[in-house]
Amino acid sequence: MIDVAKRLHSVEEYYFSKKLREVNLLIASGKPVINLGIGSPDLSPPQKVVDTIANSLFDSNAHKYQSYQGLPELRDAMAGFYKEHYQVNLSPKTDILPLIGSKEGIMHISLAYLNEGDAVLIPNPGYPTYQSVTKLVQATPIFYDLDKRNNWLPDIKALEQLDLSKVKLMWVNYPHMPTGAVPTAMAFRELVEFAKRHRILIVNDNPYSFILNDSPMSILSVEGAKDVCLELNSLSKTFNMAGWRVGMVVGQSEHINNILKVKSNMDSGMFYGIQKGAIEALKCSKMWYVTLNSVYKKRRELIWQLAESLNCTYDVKATGLFVWAKLPAYLKAEEFIDLVLKEHHIFITPGTIFGSQGEGYIRFSLCAQTEDIEEAIARIK
Ligand SMILES: Cc1ncc(COP(=O)(O)O)c(C=O)c1O
Repeated sequence: MIDVAKRLHSVEEYYFSKKLREVNLLIASGKPVINLGIGSPDLSPPQKVVDTIANSLFDSNAHKYQSYQGLPELRDAMAGFYKEHYQVNLSPKTDILPLIGSKEGIMHISLAYLNEGDAVLIPNPGYPTYQSVTKLVQATPIFYDLDKRNNWLPDIKALEQLDLSKVKLMWVNYPHMPTGAVPTAMAFRELVEFAKRHRILIVNDNPYSFILNDSPMSILSVEGAKDVCLELNSLSKTFNMAGWRVGMVVGQSEHINNILKVKSNMDSGMFYGIQKGAIEALKCSKMWYVTLNSVYKKRRELIWQLAESLNCTYDVKATGLFVWAKLPAYLKAEEFIDLVLKEHHIFITPGTIFGSQGEGYIRFSLCAQTEDIEEAIARIK
């Protein structure tokens, strides 16, 4: 046997990759499992996006390698999107790099900025990929706790108490997954000041700002943020295009060039048709967002009912594609979700997969049809 690289010992198979095998076995044995675990939008992208992608197949350019920086029209559309929705000015020539999904950006940024032994601030609870990528590039995660008492926002005073001497990068993710907490302008300002004081690059991962949220905000809207911040964004949730894989990293040209150095050595551009479709998506009118959110609003009301029938509490002001619910004090998240899966064939995500601060919480996805959520409520009752 060939020994695997040491870095592989630092990570485990992704929780959902393992757990979905178990769920699929249940389904294969005839159990009618309702999946409220995964945040993969089940709704369709805008029709004009699908039509544009389909029509692009007949374009003579469609089958060639594409530019490493994406089509200029795609970067124009991304700049327009940032201007319209976040009031942030970006140069399409220098400040934007389209990505094949925003997840890959986490690796590219880490490869561009981290050496072995550098430290990275990672939210707890938070998206597990920040931690696994940090370990894969042989840097050291330092977790910072987010807490309900502070509305799941970073506690800057507590951060200042940490040994920050080796910290080069900090992941923040607002609106926050899994809690649905929204940023405040003040919180973003404090983060930018913190980054400047300690020469840390902050990356705000921002894929959820249009889901059940009336005030989309970018960290780049803070004055001077571009010096020390990057932002990742994604079309996966906003336009139901998760499988098409379109995202972007935006920020100052120097940072973008550094990331491009990594990325241009890893892939050879995004499929032409997807870029054409993404341009159409980014130009959607307000009506798209209103319609999308009216569906999620109905689903969320049902999920709230389901949470109540499981004796959980939740924050009605939370945003995003999930409901983050607190279990009664005596229950452990993983034991609880295993029980609900076994007895009621409903799959819910345990909060612990997002870190120790997720103990005592479970996460429901809104990516399920109302009939399925109603059926889940009926099963619990
Ligand atoms: C917090 C967070 N960041 C990034 C991603 C990745 O999104 P994309 O589909 O753009 O790779 C997800 C997807 O679930 C997420 O929850």
